[in-house]
Order: sequence, then structure tokens, then C-alpha cells
Amino acid sequence: MDLSTTIAGVHFPTCLMNASGARCVTEHDLHKLGNSHAGAIVTKSMTPHERSGNPEPRYVSFDGGSINSMGLPNLGYQAYAQLIPDLRQYKKPVVASIAGLKPADFLEAVKAINVAKPDLMEINLSCPNIPGKPQIGYDFQASEELLMKIRDLAVPPIGVKLPPYFDPVHHEAMAEVLTRVGVSFISVINSVGNGLVLDAETETVVIKPKGGFGGLGGRIIKPVALANVRAFWKLVGEKIQIIGTGGVETGQDIFEHLLCGASAVQIGTVLVDEDVKVFERLKHELAGWLRKKGYDSVAECRGKLKAL
Ligand code: DHB
Repeated sequence: MDLSTTIAGVHFPTCLMNASGARCVTEHDLHKLGNSHAGAIVTKSMTPHERSGNPEPRYVSFDGGSINSMGLPNLGYQAYAQLIPDLRQYKKPVVASIAGLKPADFLEAVKAINVAKPDLMEINLSCPNIPGKPQIGYDFQASEELLMKIRDLAVPPIGVKLPPYFDPVHHEAMAEVLTRVGVSFISVINSVGNGLVLDAETETVVIKPKGGFGGLGGRIIKPVALANVRAFWKLVGEKIQIIGTGGVETGQDIFEHLLCGASAVQIGTVLVDEDVKVFERLKHELAGWLRKKGYDSVAECRGKLKAL
């Protein structure tokens, strides 16, 4: 069974990788991903300076998913620029995730990370957890202005990590921006921002930052993720490749993302729950689904979802 994929001309030995944020902050985390069955190494979203992030508790998993408000804890782009060359030993793509609190932060990080030669850059326009900083991906004009500048600076192919959209007009508006900029891939979706999870016994919220509001991930967001993969596949699938992210717990979930149009899939909540051994389980489960449905490769089933 061929579980490999190609995104923006870069070969991935398997189509499974970590979602940025999940077990990818430290040097130890990144080398563990290198030694695992993951098909790529995606870094934590990086900012100009090291950040310790929001106060704890800031990540809680519950039956059906997770809520987080991490607040971009990361080592700062200079540290990742030093680490990335060493991560290339694992013979799988290295994807640098770039974030920022203001546009200039992104440009600074892109310039520094160019030198480290990651295979791809994933520009994160969808962090929901910085108090007072709205997700850039919900402002189409600001997204376009920033992406145009990044496109002109970045050496490796760039992709964009998008927030979920809930209206076709918004999918269309973002598809037009992505087409004008000419991005190579998109990762959809980031966590469903600003959800609220309670503990009824203690009558409290479960995470501390932002009064308990945080990004939702895991099984409960799968229908939103699939809808966004499908919507963008229909709008830009011929020009822009899609990495499906959201609600992947099993091989069946990966198969569903591929049917909707994803070329690869990222794993967040279950990677945090099960650690890197999850990739081996998911590889076997995906191979089983493809075999059962008569496909020989990931490429063959991509986008094959049928309408009624
Ligand atoms: C964080 C969360 C995100 O969903 C994201 O895209 C970037 C950062 C965070 O809270 O660290």
C-alpha cells in the first residue's frame, strides 16, 4: 500500500504528520517526531522571542476532544533556525510553522528560517489564544497583505494554516486571496476558536486563560474540519494542495479527510493523548481502510467523495 504523498513538490514518506502545537515545541519533541512513523516534522508556531505561554491549566482533554489556550509557548525562531538543519537527518520533510503577534514578526521569522532550509513553511493565520489579538485569517484583507509580503520573502514553498470558516461566502473570499497570493498548500483547520468547556461538579471552567475560552480540537470538530477540506477542494483543489487537520483519531477519519480532498493529514489531540506511537497505529488503520475500499494509494482516493 502506498501511503506516501507529495505536497508542493516535496515527497512525504507517509501522509501523516503532527499538527503544529502537538508535541513539537522542544528539541526533544522534534527529534522524537523524527524517530517516529510520522511522515514529516512540523514545528511549533514560532515567534521572534521565546515565550512561556499562558498560565496553566491551559490544555485539557475530555471525552470527545480537547480545549487549549497555550498562548504560543515556543523557543523563538532563532532556536528553531538552529535546530532545523539537524532535523533533516530523518529523511522526511521539515515544516516550519511561523506565527507572530504583528505582521513584522512573521517577516522577521521567515527571513531567519529561510537560512535553515526547511522543506516547507506553514504560515499560521489562526492562533485563537492571544488575548486582544484576533485571528488574522478572519480578516481577508489583512491576510492578503501579509501573505503577499511573505510570498516575496520566503524561499521554500509556503502554505497557510487557516481557521475554520462556517459560511460559503468566507470560503470563497479566502480562496480568492489564496489564489491571488499563489500559496502552494493550506492546512485546514486550526482549532475551533473560543469554545468553552465546564466542569459542572466544581462549577468552574477547565482552563485558566481568557476566562476559560479556548481552541477546541479532537473528535468533536471532525465535521467542521471535513467541511472546510471539502469546500476548499471544490474551490481551489486543482491549484492548492490541502492538508486535512481536525478530528483524526482513527484510520477511518484519515480516509474521510482524503475522500474530501486532503493530500495529507495532521494529528493533534490524539498525538497529545497517545504520544508518537499513534503514527504507527494510524498507518496500519489507514492501510486497512484503503485496502478494504479497493484503493492502492493515497493519491488514488483523494477527493473521491460521492454526492447523493
Ligand atoms: C496556539 C494555538 C493555536 O491554535 C495556534 O494556531 C497557535 C498557537 C497556542 O495557544 O499556543
